Amino acid sequence: MQTRSIWTALAVLSLFLVDIVTAHTIIVYPGYRGNNLHTNGTVLEASGLGQTVVNDTTIFPYGMMWMYPCGGMPTSTNRTKWPTQGGAISVQPGWFQGHQTAFFYFNLGLGATPPNMSHPMLPPFQIIGPSADPYPGTFCLPQVPLPANITVKVGDLATIQVVETAKHGAALYNCVDIEFAEPEDCVEVTTDNCFNSSDIQFANVYTAALTTSDASSMTASSLFALVPLVVLGLWSLI
Ligand SMILES: *[C@@H]1O[C@H](CO)[C@@H](O)[C@H](O)[C@H]1NC(C)=O
Ligand SMILES: *[C@@H]1O[C@H](CO)[C@@H](O)[C@H](O)[C@H]1NC(C)=O
Ligand SMILES: *[C@@H]1O[C@H](CO)[C@@H](O)[C@H](O)[C@H]1NC(C)=O
Ligand SMILES: *[C@@H]1O[C@H](CO)[C@@H](O)[C@H](O)[C@H]1NC(C)=O
Ligand SMILES: *[C@@H]1O[C@H](CO)[C@@H](O)[C@H](O)[C@H]1NC(C)=O
Ligand SMILES: *[C@@H]1O[C@H](CO)[C@@H](O)[C@H](O)[C@H]1NC(C)=O
Repeated sequence: MQTRSIWTALAVLSLFLVDIVTAHTIIVYPGYRGNNLHTNGTVLEASGLGQTVVNDTTIFPYGMMWMYPCGGMPTSTNRTKWPTQGGAISVQPGWFQGHQTAFFYFNLGLGATPPNMSHPMLPPFQIIGPSADPYPGTFCLPQVPLPANITVKVGDLATIQVVETAKHGAALYNCVDIEFAEPEDCVEVTTDNCFNSSDIQFANVYTAALTTSDASSMTASSLFALVPLVVLGLWSLI
């Protein structure tokens, strides 16, 4: 028993180290605008703002990734080709603490510099990670569709936005600028760049009316949509 857990710990540790040296990224596939795992300045210098200009430079005292819409990163010039009929998105969700559970949103913004990121590609879903501390690992959805009622052609420009909420509801943002292309012109999706780590589980997110023993408060309460979490498969981790 003990030997096994030591080996498990070693395996996890080595996986973490491999992840750290090979990829400081959140969007593994199809890439990202650039490294925004960066914090500078102090909350006091910024008077409590998440982003401000001090001495002619921008500071991000809470970290760049918390800034809407793309984690403090402007539109990039290095675009990745991504299939016109949708394709893979691979993400490392555990870079920061507080993501033992997290909601994920994949959105599309249309155009070279999208006016908004308001086109959801999928309904939100939840992941359940191994720890509230930072953890290694990747999950990948091999066929994320285009948003409903949006069609694109080869050469169209867009941005994929990935949003991950922490346990307190604040969200991390990361984007990749894409150019739509035929699948054969895109970087191949393989088991190296698109896989699910075994310690990251998935769950559906749905709304249900609030139930309470006080019948008279039912109507008012049901106005507030709750988001219960279906924690399937969690016990198998223990
Ligand atoms: C774009 O360039 C930045 C800066 O060199 C780099 O960090 C990032 O990985 C590149 N993204 C893609 C999708 O090539
Ligand atoms: C801005 O400049 C002041 C005065 O030189 C300095 O004390 C302060 O540390 C600087 N702040 C930042 C964020 O660079
Ligand atoms: C803070 O980080 C941003 C983003 O990397 C950079 O543009 C800026 O110059 C940095 N500011 C200081 C004071 O280090
Ligand atoms: C968002 O951008 C799209 C273009 O991609 C535009 O058609 C739509 O009106 C915008 N929505 C909002 C709420 O601004
Ligand atoms: C897509 O278009 C259909 C038909 O016009 C419409 O009923 C549906 O509400 C649209 N879906 C979205 C997400 O806009
Ligand atoms: C990862 O798991 C999700 C949820 O079960 C699944 O939709 C997806 O296809 C899996 N990814 C791979 C690469 O098998």
